[in-house]
Amino acid sequence: MISLVAGALWAMLPAYVPNNAAVLAGGGRPIDGGRTLGGRRLLGDGKTWRGTVAGTIAGITLAVALNAVQPTVAAALGADLPTFPLRAAFGLALGAMLGDIGASFLKRRLGRQRGAAVPGLDQLDFVIGALVLAVVLAPAWTVETFSLARLAVVVVATPLLHLTTNAGAYLLGLKAEPW
Ligand code: CTP
Ligand code: MG
Repeated sequence: MISLVAGALWAMLPAYVPNNAAVLAGGGRPIDGGRTLGGRRLLGDGKTWRGTVAGTIAGITLAVALNAVQPTVAAALGADLPTFPLRAAFGLALGAMLGDIGASFLKRRLGRQRGAAVPGLDQLDFVIGALVLAVVLAPAWTVETFSLARLAVVVVATPLLHLTTNAGAYLLGLKAEPW
């Protein structure tokens, strides 16, 4: 059980940090350049080039760091932990950002303002984006790494982790809303 949970969360870590890094690094020019669709912003000011690039680099950097410590941590935990080929790391990190951007697009179409909470979508958009881009860029690795058991852990644990880190970022004054 510990091995399963540790393996699942470890495999998703390069997809977890991009959003948090984007919160820290975000700002500047919005990706949509202020453009609107049907009177509403395409994405909104919350999706910036800087945040997206910083988030992707943060995810890839973390994957490289995890690869370096994988033998030590796997031995210490007695857990089966994956390592990340570059294509997989890139897919998870950029995919997480694209999933979040896709959710913003949907939220604007639904008439939700920037920062509005959409429970479920907010917590899983980046997981879906990460898994989709990972399977496109590194299909064999993704299928082998994300067993059904690990996927189940990811779907249950991610919303809890996401809510906790965002509430923390809000309390620290880094984020405008606690979700
Ligand atoms: N951010 C960014 N670029 C991204 C994602 C996030 O710059 N691709 C930064 C923005 O400063 C954003 C903050 O991180 O306001 C929080 O991200 P998020 O909650 O995803 O955005 P929201 O502001 O809530 O906007 P939306 O309603 O469109 O999700
Ligand atoms: Mg938000």
